Amino acid sequence: MKTRFALTLFALLFLLACNTYKNLPEAEGSLPYKVVKIPPSEQQLDGDPEAGFDFLINGDYIGSGVPYGLFKRQMLKEPDTILGRKGLNERVPYAVTAFRAPNGQKVVNGNCLTCHASPFQGEIVIGMGNSFSDYRRNLTTMAKLINFGMNLKYKKSAAEYQAYEAFGKYFREMAPHIETNQAGANPAFRLAEACMMHRDPVDLTYVKEPNYEMNKYPIATDVPALWHVKKKNALYYNGIGRGDFTKLLFQASVLGIPDSAAARKAVTGFKDVLAWLRSLEPPTYPKAVNQDLVAKGEILFEKTCSNCHGTYGENETYPNKLVALEEVKTDPLYAKYAYTSGIVEWYNNSWFAQSSPRSYFEPELAYMAPPLDGIWATAPYFHNGSVPNLDAVLNSKARPQYWSRTGEDAAYDYTHVGWVYQIQEKPTGKWTFNTDLPGYSNKGHYFGDEFTRDERQAVVEYLKTL
Ligand code: HEC
Ligand code: HEC
Repeated sequence: MKTRFALTLFALLFLLACNTYKNLPEAEGSLPYKVVKIPPSEQQLDGDPEAGFDFLINGDYIGSGVPYGLFKRQMLKEPDTILGRKGLNERVPYAVTAFRAPNGQKVVNGNCLTCHASPFQGEIVIGMGNSFSDYRRNLTTMAKLINFGMNLKYKKSAAEYQAYEAFGKYFREMAPHIETNQAGANPAFRLAEACMMHRDPVDLTYVKEPNYEMNKYPIATDVPALWHVKKKNALYYNGIGRGDFTKLLFQASVLGIPDSAAARKAVTGFKDVLAWLRSLEPPTYPKAVNQDLVAKGEILFEKTCSNCHGTYGENETYPNKLVALEEVKTDPLYAKYAYTSGIVEWYNNSWFAQSSPRSYFEPELAYMAPPLDGIWATAPYFHNGSVPNLDAVLNSKARPQYWSRTGEDAAYDYTHVGWVYQIQEKPTGKWTFNTDLPGYSNKGHYFGDEFTRDERQAVVEYLKTL
């Protein structure tokens, strides 16, 4: 009897395990290289940085949104001081933009700073990835409620409804796909995937029938710092984004633009956004450093790390290296995910890749070795945000399995350089990072493991100065 029970239990567990696995992308194979250099592609470098930032925080690149009138309750009591915007946006929180839809209606929608600006030690740092968002709830009901409310309040022929319609559709389509299972993880890739799944690749208009199926597993990532764009020849953690960067940056607009005619118009603004991105500088380390230790650390860094991450200071170099999974050994799931996603074929057959200047996706089973400028400020580390500080990046044994911060007001640790965290016994609690979940393991990147304690401390001291 006992055996039968055990067998049934075993079979059940096995089925469950298979089931979870079935939802994960399967990508087998290996690359013919361990580390490869990505060559530059032609970029449009004649944009205006100031105009770019203005467009980023005031521009109409999302195309449609919720009526301005309905947003009244979310408005700030006092004019916003973070961006100091004027006019329509004077009292709008920094992560949201009010703009006029093509038919003249005032609407609001999120902007790039929702994910690319972050609270940090009492300030909002523009360009820093926000690791404090929590997408662990299903937005399907909210999407339905908004649609319901809009239908109740406005006729389909009303100008307000028309200025909302495209966003309403894509919000509804993406809502079931952007729920995550890890606090702090950002589902931007799945958001793009879900929107493009319902766009005709050529004219970008809405299609009801999905163009491809999405993997079930809700993979998400950390958010990279934007000040690295000027050094990079390929965008995204896995280096998938190639060719013209303005088209890649413009992808956020798939959330609300109606078609490729609107896309052609909006994309021109991204030449200026690219110029702004290229002008961004990382924050400098705010405390004193030990110069002797820095000098010692620099020598160690150049011997052990520069080959992949480049050199800093007077002789700046950045080799743009893509490192095979077998070499870096960090969690492979995100790289594999892109490798198996229907978005790649869609993208490469779409307006983004078929009209000039061209951008395209080139997935590989690898991650980019990122530039390390401002690395002291951008914890947590690795593409999946699994490691809370630099000391642990360089010492795999010091990486906690379940760790938690307090949220947006979390304190920073200037010794180990990263977030002050608490080790948890179990993966519970609002801000607990769970490295057992698929896609979030803290394994790999063993390049600092051979250092002695003193050597590691010297390298961490040096990293503060980048
Ligand atoms: C919903 C959150 C979100 C929004 C909104 C968003 N991004 Fe991102 N962005 C991300 C995440 C997450 C990544 C990392 C994805 C990856 O590398 O695979 C990323 C990557 C990037 C990168 C690549 C950086 C690098 O080092 O490779 C750039 C550049 C970028 N975003 C610019 C923008 C701009 C410009 C906008 C607004 C038009 C924007 N993003 C809107 C979340 C977002
Ligand atoms: C063989 C190439 C290679 C070498 C050598 C190497 N790295 Fe890396 N490094 C990578 C790759 C690839 C990543 C991205 C891994 C990921 O996100 O999964 C990375 C990530 C990092 C990160 C985290 C970046 C972030 O924004 O989260 C830091 C910090 C870092 N490396 C520092 C170092 C230091 C210091 C050394 C020398 C001890 C070193 N690396 C040696 C390839 C390398």
